[in-house]
Amino acid sequence: MKRQCRIFCVVFFIVTMGWVLFPENEVNAYRDGRWNQSYSTGLKLYATHCAACHGKNGEGGIGLPLNLQSFLSVAPSGYIRKTIFYGRLPRQMIAYGPILKKAEIEAIASFVRGWQVSDYKGLDINRVAGSVSNGKLLFDGMCIGCHGLNGLGGPQVGGGHVTNAIAGYPGPSLNNQGFLKSATDGYIKATLMSGRVGTPMGSYLKGKQGFVELREQEINDLVAYIRSWEKQDGGPRDHWRSE
Ligand code: HEC
Ligand code: HEC
Repeated sequence: MKRQCRIFCVVFFIVTMGWVLFPENEVNAYRDGRWNQSYSTGLKLYATHCAACHGKNGEGGIGLPLNLQSFLSVAPSGYIRKTIFYGRLPRQMIAYGPILKKAEIEAIASFVRGWQVSDYKGLDINRVAGSVSNGKLLFDGMCIGCHGLNGLGGPQVGGGHVTNAIAGYPGPSLNNQGFLKSATDGYIKATLMSGRVGTPMGSYLKGKQGFVELREQEINDLVAYIRSWEKQDGGPRDHWRSE
């Protein structure tokens, strides 16, 4: 009996240590060939700096979900890195540019990218031409309910983006310099065309069963209006500005 007990304890110890040393994420990554030193660094940095708000597996919480295919498939490589660099102040996410090294930001970004299993469906365009005044009309009619007056963001009632009846699921701030410096016009346009499956953000492109169906030119007008909020202040430039 004693011997059985000892064997049980040894097995229990080995399993527990295995679980501690090789968390589920890392084991899965190893299994499908994604694991390397940088992945492991990214995982640790993500757990330290991001998981509290974005969830251990990127499922979201106070911060937006990051593991959604509908997000990853339209986000260009620079978007995630720049968002980490600039943050989203005065919203809850601080700028990590002054805190983390460039290589650390890259490791976190590629760790987040590791959740992507779908193909890239984004648009590689930097500038979309549209009418700012018509974009404002459309925005005031259709977007402010979730993205706030002048795009300053839905209310962050304590729990930020946590989905619940009281906090709702507020839209992020689009009139935000961290967002505007990170997002290309192509990313904004692709988000409007496809929506964000798994969130309240619907598709707007005619023919895509959007809740409101817009023509492509109207989507361009919205992009132009959102872009008009960016301050051309010549402020600090990050390492990836040219992307
Ligand atoms: C204190 C909470 C908090 C922390 C910590 C935080 N974020 Fe965020 N993050 C947010 C919020 C809130 C938003 C949305 C901003 C808004 O509501 O306007 C956001 C937005 C983002 C976005 C944009 C997502 C999208 O769909 O466009 C990315 C990418 C992101 N965060 C990555 C990270 C990473 C990586 C880290 C760790 C280095 C991190 N965040 C740390 C709260 C946080
Ligand atoms: C029913 C609420 C709702 C409406 C209406 C809505 N949005 Fe959104 N939108 C959201 C939410 C919530 C998100 C964040 C999705 C997520 O969790 O990734 C979002 C995300 C976005 C993003 C991506 C922002 C980022 O940080 O990545 C853009 C751009 C956007 N919306 C633009 C618009 C525009 C323009 C309109 C009006 C034509 C609009 N939205 C209408 C709720 C809404």
